[in-house]
Amino acid sequence: MSEPLPGHALVISPAEMAGRTGRYEKALSELEGLFADGEAYAARLAREGDRVIYHVDEFRPSDAAGDLITGISTLSPGRVGAEFHMTRGHIHARQDRAEIYHCLSGHGLMLMETLDGQTVVTELRPGVVAYVPPVHIHRSVNVGDTDLVTLFCYPADAGQDYGIIARSGGMRHRVVADGDGWRLEENSGYVPR
Ligand code: NI
Repeated sequence: MSEPLPGHALVISPAEMAGRTGRYEKALSELEGLFADGEAYAARLAREGDRVIYHVDEFRPSDAAGDLITGISTLSPGRVGAEFHMTRGHIHARQDRAEIYHCLSGHGLMLMETLDGQTVVTELRPGVVAYVPPVHIHRSVNVGDTDLVTLFCYPADAGQDYGIIARSGGMRHRVVADGDGWRLEENSGYVPR
């Protein structure tokens, strides 16, 4: 009998992401233009410097069709003006590729949008698995006061198109503070696609 081979394991621990093949970070300066309140954004940049807002650790075995990319996204809590910290957001370059996000800790939203401007929201709390259907723009928003940590998984040939959000002047809705909760607000700069 031949010896079994060790399988690959991605160790889910914010302190030690063993098994990852890559990591990227997004700093405040790379999120310029995302937030409505430009003055609040400039003030935070001046006060805090170019701090990291979120980072992603991933295991990407290949980019081949049929393979899977798995990873952990960690989005810090905070606001720029009334708006909560968010990821840049994207649609998959191959738009028909779906994705799941499993919330491990924190409190957030999976903010989604169809091409014709229909907003879809799934609230993320530990244990929730958010399904991002094919052809949905998606972004994470941290509406809590601790890190929003999610495990994601999507087809390895999906790719990301970030420009679709910029071309429309943002997503149709912004997520803003409302008392100690959140609400959606129409994005006045939104251009229907
Ligand atoms: Ni995605």
